Amino acid sequence: MRDLQLLADCNVLISCQGGEYTTGTYAPLRKSGWGGFWIDAASTLRMNDDAVIILDPVNADVIRNGLIQGVRTFAGGNCTVSLMLMAVSGLFRARAVEWMTTMTYQAASGAGAAKMLELVKQMGCLTHPTRAIPSENALEVDRLVIQAQRDPSLPTEEFGVPLAGSLIPWIDRAMPGGQTREEWKGMAETNKIMGLQPPVPVDGICVRVGTMRCHGQALCMKLTKDVPLEDVEQIIVGSNPWVRLIPNDQDSTTRCLTPTAVSGSLNIPIGRLRKLKLGPEFVGGFTVGDQLLWGAAEPIRRMLRLLREHLGK
Ligand code: HSE
Repeated sequence: MRDLQLLADCNVLISCQGGEYTTGTYAPLRKSGWGGFWIDAASTLRMNDDAVIILDPVNADVIRNGLIQGVRTFAGGNCTVSLMLMAVSGLFRARAVEWMTTMTYQAASGAGAAKMLELVKQMGCLTHPTRAIPSENALEVDRLVIQAQRDPSLPTEEFGVPLAGSLIPWIDRAMPGGQTREEWKGMAETNKIMGLQPPVPVDGICVRVGTMRCHGQALCMKLTKDVPLEDVEQIIVGSNPWVRLIPNDQDSTTRCLTPTAVSGSLNIPIGRLRKLKLGPEFVGGFTVGDQLLWGAAEPIRRMLRLLREHLGK
């Protein structure tokens, strides 16, 4: 609906319509004098000076202060950034992170419903020849799979290339300096959400993988000093009720730290935590989260509750 008159009658608007809708609607509404609350899942307004990025388990203070100071525009964060912060924001809050890299394993669903459907179609095309000519010979099966991946009939309208049985180390458009926009968001949004000054450098390579749902991230953090691993773990588990510490052993990791284990859950497992051989200040870890929940819907849903509290409703 883009009837500005009807929209202007509402005190609170929530948009999950994507950036194009926001671009076409938000500015004209504000220009017309509308002073209501705009809550948006799209990235369009996130970095505006007058907008707060919402992830209340991490920045409820920033959101509440914003409401008190008259902020009327709230945007959900990038899914990868939100999930990373749900796992390790405690360390940022403690000013314990000098810098961080995050290497991502992002599911098809982060790119939208059409992409999820194409991934499943591709999977079907890949397994079809191996079912038609069953073989116990792995190299023979491999040859059939590669052949199906390279066959022009494989549906690739959405991704442009095969994703099933493969990966794509590029997400979103190019930015200056060789980053993709998804990679650029890592530092920009982390620092804005947490209100960090001076900003903490965050960078990495974002990769689309052939999973349906849930983004994984391998983290490498340089801490500001040599913090014992047990203290790092305590800071992490103490930061919100959803984060789950997964012991760094094979059984726990393979059972609990995968997209399959996490899909549909609000829990944010983080594991593989250990001091890296790079030096005593370096900590590695791996985290997975459902990006359709904390990465998209949940912060918006919870913002409504905060807003109702603020408005006394
Ligand atoms: N940009 C993300 C992705 C979507 O492509 O996976 C969540 O913001």
